[in-house]
Amino acid sequence: MSFTIAIDGPAAAGKGTVSKGVAAHFGFAHLDTGLLYRAVGRRVLAGEEPVAAARALSQADLERQDLRSAEVAQAASKVAVIPEVRAALVDFQRDFARREGGAVLDGRDIGTVICPDAEVKLFVTASPEVRAERRYLELTGKGADVTRDQILAEVRERDARDTERSTAPLKPAEDAVLLDTSDLSIEEALAKAVSVIEERLGQRG
Ligand code: CDP
Ligand code: CDP
Repeated sequence: MSFTIAIDGPAAAGKGTVSKGVAAHFGFAHLDTGLLYRAVGRRVLAGEEPVAAARALSQADLERQDLRSAEVAQAASKVAVIPEVRAALVDFQRDFARREGGAVLDGRDIGTVICPDAEVKLFVTASPEVRAERRYLELTGKGADVTRDQILAEVRERDARDTERSTAPLKPAEDAVLLDTSDLSIEEALAKAVSVIEERLGQRG
């Protein structure tokens, strides 16, 4: 059986946390599709041409430890506006989504473009200030030398680039369930996501 859960939303909304929790709860596989764009962005920072970098991506690129920096996040959102870069990453994501046993994919365009027929679509959001604070705590916790203002500006810049691009812009699918995590703990956000998914699984029988 394949069962696809599409989780989209802006930077640091809690997509990854909810996705990992949901995948663990239901025993599904999880793909953080942001890592694909981050891996391309990292290669471009190292001097490669974006489309060639996207086509050359391998598992080893996704396992690198240096993909979480603010610099790589910005580079990712810049390569993500290029249609040929996005096209080069489609098959890998769709193959993952259709695997036996269920799959959770999180990103920006999973419910709209990659898996428009996903059984469950969630759009996870939170205010820019809450998201920037979360990302700030995360990055400084890992020793990064950044300020709150810097991270808020970068989050806003990336949101704008992601929502305004013409190919696969960030927006909720028409049939997505909205999950605003601004005032939710991780446990509360996960519980809401699990209940939406259980309802859909129940409907399928
Ligand atoms: O994947 P995405 O960028 O949307 O966000 P994330 O990596 O799941 O979450 C960003 C940070 O916010 C992490 O440090 C989470 O622990 C934290 N978080 C939170 O504090 N409360 C939530 N309800 C969800 C996430
Ligand atoms: O974790 P966070 O939400 O900060 O970022 P991410 O999910 O790792 O994505 C990094 C960047 O990749 C985003 O700002 C988007 O520009 C791009 N991306 C995309 O265009 N489509 C996806 N499905 C996933 C990420």
